[in-house]
Amino acid sequence: MATKILVTGGTGYIGSHTVVELQQAGYEVVIIDNLSNSNRDVLKGIEAITGIAPVFVEGDCTDLDTLKKLFEQNPGIKGIINFAASKAVGESVQKPLLYYRNNLNTLINLLECMPQYGVKGIVFSSSCTVYGEPDVNPIDETAPIKPATSPYGNTKQISEEIITDYIHSGAPVKSIILRYFNPIGAHPSAKIGELPLGVPQNLVPYLTQAAAGIRKELTVFGNDYNTPDGSCIRDYIDVVDLAKAHVVAMRRMLDGEDTDSIEIFNLGTGRGVSVLELINAFEKATGVPVPHKIGSRREGDIEKIWAIPDKANNILGWTAEVPVEETLANAWRWQKSLEK
Ligand code: NAD
Ligand code: UFG
Repeated sequence: MATKILVTGGTGYIGSHTVVELQQAGYEVVIIDNLSNSNRDVLKGIEAITGIAPVFVEGDCTDLDTLKKLFEQNPGIKGIINFAASKAVGESVQKPLLYYRNNLNTLINLLECMPQYGVKGIVFSSSCTVYGEPDVNPIDETAPIKPATSPYGNTKQISEEIITDYIHSGAPVKSIILRYFNPIGAHPSAKIGELPLGVPQNLVPYLTQAAAGIRKELTVFGNDYNTPDGSCIRDYIDVVDLAKAHVVAMRRMLDGEDTDSIEIFNLGTGRGVSVLELINAFEKATGVPVPHKIGSRREGDIEKIWAIPDKANNILGWTAEVPVEETLANAWRWQKSLEK
């Protein structure tokens, strides 16, 4: 019988790609999403790729009764992947209570339900934002955690602590915490991708909209950083590669005999790419020019950060594989599909 997995936030950007990979690996998926940052059509995209409609519960993870009902109506869930969270850094500064309530109550409710309903493990979406501005690059999982620069970042730090404290208290659950670097791109089928709601805040959705003529031009936030070309450096990871890491993490957590109860992995490519390099890579991959200008620095931006992904490579047996040009071509195909 297929192992049943609950994916919270499963109609969202990373969640939807992960649902596809889980289904293709033979898992049965139940999604809960309150559609606060996604829509139902994503379910059709998932089914178009895999031929399988996931069970979908429209509901809010901050409501404990909704979760209990879900576990009662879908018995036998063995693992959870918790994507459900609010994720806009700027908004979190404006509305901190919304972020603390949504992100922390969701996690606490899920943890509370796990022993009660026999759920063995939870994979948690964390972020490289917990490292702040690193003293040296690239960074592994032992790099110091710096004070958070936004309520959003703080929810990730606190979430990691909540999971750790809960497991140390003897709760009969396991967890794998995944610290994502910068996820970009879309499924190569162009049936699912990142949904642009309003003006994009992140680089790649803005870039593809500028290339498509929806935005006048992309502003490069600063070219006076201490980097080779002056623009900021990130570790951009293909969203399908990222999704696949969740499948191997789930397998390890549920099937691994003597793995630690709590493990943390960086998920990145190990390569730092600047904003200007990314624009060039997009133009090379698609032949489409990106209208752009150099602007001033964005407040709170990290200058450079990229991962040492060795732990995930060696222990999970997972490596990011998709070349950045291919990822950007997929992002462009997705952008074009949205205009149809
Ligand atoms: P997303 O907004 O596309 O997906 C999150 C989904 O969760 C959305 O569909 C939203 O409707 C849903 N949701 C939010 N609160 C909910 C609640 N209380 N109950 C039920 N559903 C709820 O975001 P994403 O980019 O797919 O991110 C997924 C996770 O990965 C988040 O936890 C995010 O913080 C984390 N993360 C994302 C990035 C990134 O750059 N995208 C980087 C690091 C970490
Ligand atoms: N950038 C621009 N112009 C834009 C948008 C972004 O030059 O219009 C630059 C930024 O200055 C930065 C780089 O592109 O140097 C990447 O910016 P993003 O906003 O795409 O990503 P961040 O690294 O700032 O943050 C993202 C998520 C966070 C998450 C972090 C690590 O927004 O939630 O990645 O995973 F924590």
